[in-house]
Amino acid sequence: MIDLRSDTVTRPTGAMRKAMAEAEVGDDVFGDDPTVNRLEALCAEISGKEAALFVPSGTMANQIAIRLHTRPGDEVLMESGAHPFNHEAGGAAVISGVQIRTIFGARGILDPAEVQAAIRPPNVHFAPPTLLCVEDTSNRGGGSVHPADRLQDLAELAHKNGLSAHLDGARAFNAGVASGIPLHERYRCYDTISFCFSKGLGAPVGSALCGPRDLIETGRRVRKMLGGGMRQAGILAAGALHALTHHIDRLDEDHQLAKSIAEGLLSLGYCVETPETNMVYVPILNAPQAAIELANSGVACIAVAPDRLRLVTHLDVRRSDLPTILTAFSRLPR
Ligand SMILES: Cc1ncc(COP(=O)(O)O)c(C=O)c1O
Repeated sequence: MIDLRSDTVTRPTGAMRKAMAEAEVGDDVFGDDPTVNRLEALCAEISGKEAALFVPSGTMANQIAIRLHTRPGDEVLMESGAHPFNHEAGGAAVISGVQIRTIFGARGILDPAEVQAAIRPPNVHFAPPTLLCVEDTSNRGGGSVHPADRLQDLAELAHKNGLSAHLDGARAFNAGVASGIPLHERYRCYDTISFCFSKGLGAPVGSALCGPRDLIETGRRVRKMLGGGMRQAGILAAGALHALTHHIDRLDEDHQLAKSIAEGLLSLGYCVETPETNMVYVPILNAPQAAIELANSGVACIAVAPDRLRLVTHLDVRRSDLPTILTAFSRLPR
């Protein structure tokens, strides 16, 4: 099966497994795990922030960030397709007691004027807006990459209005590679940034939350509260370190393969946009049925809507899989 359901389906490579097996470990809740400490220091450096926290998932990174930047009763603004609103099981309401206000952005990219209009002034009737979350790349926006000046405008707008700015960078390295702009530069204006090791980077587990030292130290307590304090987590951190060392530059191969899939689908008559990173969204009638038929032809993907399939390229999909993928689509009834 060629598995295009998500970039989370990758399995650790032999070299990554070896690095994990040989990791030096300690009890990370005591701060004793040298490999986790090394990973957190590297993440802080990569993001250009003072400190970083290793967490089990992107969801936990976002939820800790929301908790750190808000108080119960506050309002958090984000794009309508954003992950914490759609796919984090209502966590922001339960963990932070906040309400989420969504704003539509074409391809998942917010328009500063629309954000400004959504920021309500102090009024006894309103939940005070205290946080803006931005997602780069935008998953539901098609793996879209924010222009660097848009990222900056949004964060500055948030700050000007007294809001903090959090960047959900589950696929920040895809954005970094696609734009050619390193993370510490792209996300300089953001108070906190999260990124995942378990997506295109190919590690089995883990994300990082990066930001100011005092905030990250408070985040360490929130992580413990959520049950995310892990003991000999160096085994997992070693996978993440291996991914950061060996799997960033190769993301461009995933982007190029996604482009080739899109071009092939266009030539078959499908109406697809050229992907900016590793996701191809395919408008199609009866997407759930199409996904079943594609799976019968050896290609797994997800129907993200009744009329839309999502194909995601990653470490475990090869260019030599392209003909099988296109043949599977060519067999679908049109
Ligand atoms: C944009 C975005 N943010 C956060 C997450 C959450 O990551 P995790 O699955 O590790 O909780 C995802 C997962 O796909 C995502 O796409």
